[in-house]
Amino acid sequence: MSRLTQRLFAAIYDPALSASERGVFRPHREYVAGRASGDVLEIGAGTGANLSYYAPDVRLTVTDPNPFMLRKLTAKAEKLGRTITSSVAPATDMPFEDESFDVIVGTLVLCSVRDQSDVIDEVTRLLRPGGEFRFMEHVRSPGRLKGLVQDVAMPVWRTCFEGCHPNRNTVAIIKASSLELVETKDFGNGPYPVRPHVVGFARRKS
Ligand SMILES: C[S@@+](CC[C@H](N)C(=O)[O-])C[C@H]1O[C@@H](n2cnc3c(N)ncnc32)[C@H](O)[C@@H]1O
Repeated sequence: MSRLTQRLFAAIYDPALSASERGVFRPHREYVAGRASGDVLEIGAGTGANLSYYAPDVRLTVTDPNPFMLRKLTAKAEKLGRTITSSVAPATDMPFEDESFDVIVGTLVLCSVRDQSDVIDEVTRLLRPGGEFRFMEHVRSPGRLKGLVQDVAMPVWRTCFEGCHPNRNTVAIIKASSLELVETKDFGNGPYPVRPHVVGFARRKS
């Protein structure tokens, strides 16, 4: 991704999502970020859409490979009076010691990474035993036709939207990992082709 497209994506992200934030995502961000506690890492944190949902006593670290997204996030954190630690890094290779975090949060990010299993492995490395990976993702439609359209649209969609895949079976990848999938809930609303969504959490085994 070039610096120019990174900059452009950061500039349009909040205006592009504002209707979905109000109408669709709010209760799900509350569920994912609002229930995080302790030492919390957010991967692919973008412009900071989850910031206002974290409890005030959460010790928050954020990462994202796009420095322009993190610049916007930092400005929001300052406005909210929230202290954060941030690092420009992909979710496959983050500069933290093993077992550094109680909770890791990822929202609308596993659609964009190159290899979801590599990210889950890195999340597992960084979680303390019993720690939670809390997520909200759009996933491939179970409907035959809708799923097929997402498959066909994927190459163009991925190119236009910074690597976003509309057709991933993200829950299957988490289930196949060494994390224990504890809870998932589907929600069908949101703009097609990036729906349905799933929220949930998985736990690192003790
Ligand atoms: C759709 S945005 C979601 C931003 C934010 N998490 C949210 O919920 O609004 C996808 C984010 O994933 C980031 N991203 C892309 N590739 C990534 C990777 N390999 N590791 C971590 N984050 C990545 C992008 O820079 C972008 O900020």
